[in-house]
Amino acid sequence: RALLRRLWKGDASARMLHPRLQKAMGAYLRANKHGVRFRGRRAAGRSRAELLCALRGRVRVRTLDGSEPPFSALGWRALVPAVPLGRLLPRGLRTCAVVTSAGAILNSSLGEEIDSHDAVLRFNSAPTRGYEKDVGNKTTVRIINSQILTNPRHHFIDSSLYKDVILVAWDPAPYSANLHLWYKKPDYNLFTPYVQHRQRNPDQPFYILHPKFIWQLWDIIQENTREKIQPNPPSSGFLGILLMMSLCGEVHVYEYIPSVRQTDLCHYHEPYYDAACTLGAYHPLLYEKLLVQRLNTGAQGDLHRKGKVVLPGLRAVRC
Ligand code: C5P
Repeated sequence: RALLRRLWKGDASARMLHPRLQKAMGAYLRANKHGVRFRGRRAAGRSRAELLCALRGRVRVRTLDGSEPPFSALGWRALVPAVPLGRLLPRGLRTCAVVTSAGAILNSSLGEEIDSHDAVLRFNSAPTRGYEKDVGNKTTVRIINSQILTNPRHHFIDSSLYKDVILVAWDPAPYSANLHLWYKKPDYNLFTPYVQHRQRNPDQPFYILHPKFIWQLWDIIQENTREKIQPNPPSSGFLGILLMMSLCGEVHVYEYIPSVRQTDLCHYHEPYYDAACTLGAYHPLLYEKLLVQRLNTGAQGDLHRKGKVVLPGLRAVRC
């Protein structure tokens, strides 16, 4: 609870985490399994305006377009959707919702508010059916990690969760963004199911995030954080928030920074408890959330009661 209040105010630190989470973070720092070498400069004291300006200048949503090897030689130019992700949604999207899968969204009654947005982004296997009152039922975009495509438990091929939506998949690549290395040794092999799915469902927009986009966001988090962050990719949540900030006029994020309903229940749809889901062990989640807190233009009451953060779209940012 003390940590939650510090998070709301934006002055939390990893030292406030449970020793178990601190230990896990330390192990990830030592392992550095993606070969991260931070070459940027720390700029930890930026104001909101300065932060937004830096984001607008740096964040370029990129997906694999098949123009680079090894994908070019594999015929991916013709495989990926003809319309790039950045031009798929109408330019006039006024407000968008990003709905995290946190257990804290249960009993929020946010469903109606969420569905009132022009577009709604959800994550991985988070369902709406049976949870409409709290999470709504509209889904425009779904971000999925490579485990969704590869673990049979998720029934990626036939589950209705992954139909009639824009799909955006990702997998942790080396920090070098060497596409050859990544193609040979992805964390989970998403390439084979991606190709298969594109061939069978050519009309469904389905993209893979470019590793450069993912690590660019990691660099931005580290640049704006005084502590050393985990050398692992940002969470799907952070990727989704920045994607929607690039596409929408305004982004309303639900239960990313936890409300008073904060709980160790990892997901609203699964009976699994772990504080790491909200505060991070593998992902630099605490630092992502501190950055998003600094960008929040919404009311403090909405943050506490709804777990809602309001962020400006990057197109409207004036530098
Ligand atoms: O666990 P999963 O990655 O599917 O959840 C989607 C996103 O929601 C996470 O990447 C994270 O950013 C956010 N989340 C959270 N707190 C939780 C569960 C998820 O902030 N308890």
